[in-house]
Amino acid sequence: MPASNEMLSKLVRFSLVDGMSPDVSPIQRRLSNMRGMYADEAAYASILRESDPLVYEFHDMGLPEKEGAIAFGTSIIYAGKVGDEYFMTKGHFHNILATAEVYFCLRGHGYMLMENPERNWEARELTPGCAVYVPERYAHRSINVGSDAPLITFFAFRADAGHNYGAIETKGFRKRIVERSGKPEIIDNPGWNV
Ligand SMILES: [Fe+2]
Repeated sequence: MPASNEMLSKLVRFSLVDGMSPDVSPIQRRLSNMRGMYADEAAYASILRESDPLVYEFHDMGLPEKEGAIAFGTSIIYAGKVGDEYFMTKGHFHNILATAEVYFCLRGHGYMLMENPERNWEARELTPGCAVYVPERYAHRSINVGSDAPLITFFAFRADAGHNYGAIETKGFRKRIVERSGKPEIIDNPGWNV
């Protein structure tokens, strides 16, 4: 029963187990949506000849993108690799560059990879119970380094910040996270140019 005659508040349900919400439709990114983002293009093409796996999805709770509002939701990155590079999100800057964001890890094992236009970069390991503060001006990408379980996070940021994928789609991040001897390792991205 509504507790007010105005319903500007919002109540949503989401699962701490799988990150899913019955109240919003997820936005899904399949491997075919990630063209050019993985270093091993032969491995990318080889997987796509067989199937088009779901790489990640997010449940944005859909608040208006207005000043003062907070957007929040869950992000689910599935386990997998393209060659030796783990499944990851595209990653983005915010249109309002001076926007920070918080990601709270609910399940799984991953990294938050971050970089700013001044060429600084940072990576933080994500395990359940950890919240990572993504500083303002930093692009961010979630990477699942687990062998089979999804990486599930809950995120929140200013709702009017917008998303800017352009720079990331053309040159990627300065670093890549790949598997070496069964463990994640941060390496330079040979495709990243000054
Ligand atoms: Fe963001």
